[in-house]
Amino acid sequence: MGYITSAALEETGYVVLDSYNKPLDPKEWLDIEYVDWKSSGDTRFAPLASAFGEIECNGFWNHKPPRTDKDGVWIPAQTELAPTLTERALEPGANVGRCRIIELQPNSYGDCLYNLHQDDNNRLNPDGTGWVVRGFFNLTDDTESYFVLRHNRTDPEGEVRIALPAGAQLIIDTQRLWHAATHLGTEPRYCLITSWESGPELDAYIEKYHGVNHVESVPISQETLDAGQAEQARRDAARAAYYAAKGQAELAAQTAMSEA
Ligand SMILES: [Fe+2]
Repeated sequence: MGYITSAALEETGYVVLDSYNKPLDPKEWLDIEYVDWKSSGDTRFAPLASAFGEIECNGFWNHKPPRTDKDGVWIPAQTELAPTLTERALEPGANVGRCRIIELQPNSYGDCLYNLHQDDNNRLNPDGTGWVVRGFFNLTDDTESYFVLRHNRTDPEGEVRIALPAGAQLIIDTQRLWHAATHLGTEPRYCLITSWESGPELDAYIEKYHGVNHVESVPISQETLDAGQAEQARRDAARAAYYAAKGQAELAAQTAMSEA
């Protein structure tokens, strides 16, 4: 049967919508409650909708009963403080799973490449229903920062870097594309992330805001690219060595136990 997907995302896996042009009140993301939740860098998250309406960020499949990233439960204590953001997440009329604000501390392009990951939004998603994709609404005016998208985590070929000024609105198939943000500011970056179910509602929303599936990449120097690749490779190797050593130690302990 297969999943219902958006034609707009088929070719590149992303669309950039018109920039949000209404005023943003920083209180909506500064006055709500955050939880420590590390994901792709030094981050905290403030959920607006979660698996059962608690202020926590775990994947819906880690709850009982486990389920896919749909039918998020709104958290009134949070949505009351962030009414405009809640309204924006609801505007497409598509099913919403997780909805939360990310706070990301400044990092580098090399950090970002190391943090590149694919999401797992469609775990347990029933065949024949809508594929879950994610909206990213940049809240802070991060004029030096950009979102990095790749088809292959370690291959820069075809990399797309999308600018993140205040009001930037992206929709990304984050299970298909490797992604992370390079945030070069001095203050944290805030962004609203919403899991939406693909279908006619989301398609109409993309059309209404003139989604485009190709944008010009934010330019960066060859030197930055090369240094970023080198840092990703260095940290990947360090991580592999750490786990290899840990595995050896565990194997040695098991052997010692079985011999005891
Ligand atoms: Fe992600």
